[in-house]
Parts: sequence; structure tokens; C-alpha cells
Amino acid sequence: MRVLIACEFSGVVRDAFIARGHDAISVDLLPSERPGPHYQGDVLEFIEQTTRVNGPWFDLMIAHPPCTHLAVSGARHFWRKGTEQAEAIEFVRQLLLAPFPRIALENPVSVISSRLRPADQIVQPWQFGHPEMKATCFWLKNLPLLRPTNNVKAEMDTLSKAERNRVLWMGRDRWMDRSRTFQGIADAIADQWGTETPLQMTLDGAA
Ligand SMILES: C[S@@+](CC[C@H](N)C(=O)[O-])C[C@H]1O[C@@H](n2cnc3c(N)ncnc32)[C@H](O)[C@@H]1O
Repeated sequence: MRVLIACEFSGVVRDAFIARGHDAISVDLLPSERPGPHYQGDVLEFIEQTTRVNGPWFDLMIAHPPCTHLAVSGARHFWRKGTEQAEAIEFVRQLLLAPFPRIALENPVSVISSRLRPADQIVQPWQFGHPEMKATCFWLKNLPLLRPTNNVKAEMDTLSKAERNRVLWMGRDRWMDRSRTFQGIADAIADQWGTETPLQMTLDGAA
């Protein structure tokens, strides 16, 4: 399967697909922090250029667009973020319109749900082997809901609030550490969404 990981500097999801034999590439404005197939640049331009040359080349896109102006945890700042938020929503909208048969777009609980459409599901790291809280939403196109793989809630409930909310308590200056995909979720994504059979594409790119 050809897989595009949009807005990923960590390589975590990309490498989970590669480890399972897929042809995966990550794209981000930043360099990849691990060696591996990566295009550094604007992902919408990358999609436009690769589609112009090859048609809708990818079978699946997993997208992690920035949540800075979208996450409801920052709602107190929304009043002064009108322009940035409109641009961020438009970026998400363009990603969801990418001409690939299957798409999963990930974000925290965010205004995407009220401005575009409700998320298809919300998962937590503790459902995938990490005893931590971090609500993670998915907006899906032609993909089944991600199934939990290793529920460690009982273990998490023995931890302190600070330990359970480790990521949420990191300062904004640690945004890279906050935003890196949990390995257990990346493994579930690659295991479950990397095994879907190809969809028949129509000429306009719709599946
Ligand atoms: C919330 S972080 C996602 C990090 C991801 N979960 C990971 O593990 O690497 C959002 C990422 O989107 C990238 N980004 C923002 N605008 C972009 C664009 N136009 N094209 C490509 N990447 C972009 C940022 O550089 C940032 O790394």
C-alpha cells in the first residue's frame, strides 16, 4: 500500500507502516527527526504536484494537521484568532478533500467538529497500551473505526493525575513532545488501516 503521512516530523506512523512492508512517506515543513522517506515542504503542494504527475498516487493518507488554532483547550484565545483559525480550518478542509480513497485526519477535540463535521471517533492512549490521557479524534474517509488493542485503564487509574496527564502538563514550548503520535496508536493504525483492500476509484477521484 502507498501511504502518505501528512504533517509528521516524528516518523512514528510512517515507520509503523514501513515496518509492515508498506511504501510510506512523511511530509512536513520540518525535517524528519528520524531517517526515512520524508519530503520537507508544504503538504498541499506535495499532494498537488504528485497528483498532477501520477494521478491519485496514494492508497491512504494519515494526516496530523496543527491544532494550535483549533483545539478547544485553547478556546479562551479564540476571540483573537479569527483569521488564523479560518486558515487552519481551510487547511484541514483541503486535506480532507485530497484525492485519495482512504483518509484519516487526527486532531485533539477541536472546532473541526463544529466547523466541518463531527469526528468519527475519539480514542485515548490508554486503549493502546499507554497509561495516559490524551483525547485524540479521527475524521475518517472509507476507513473503519480504530479498534483498541491493549486497554491499560486499570493500570492508569493507579497513577497520579500528573502521570496520567503527562502530555497535557508539558509546557507549550514542548509542542513537539506533546504532538508526537503514541507508538501504540501508530501500530494500531498501521495494523488495522494498512490491511484494507484497494477501493475502486472513479474518474473524479471519489471512491
Ligand atoms: C501537531 S504536529 C503533528 C506531529 C505528528 N503527530 C508527529 O508525530 O510528527 C503538526 C505538524 O504539521 C506541520 N505542518 C504545518 N503546516 C504544514 C504544511 N502546510 N505542510 C506540511 N506540514 C505542515 C508542522 O510542522 C507540525 O510538525
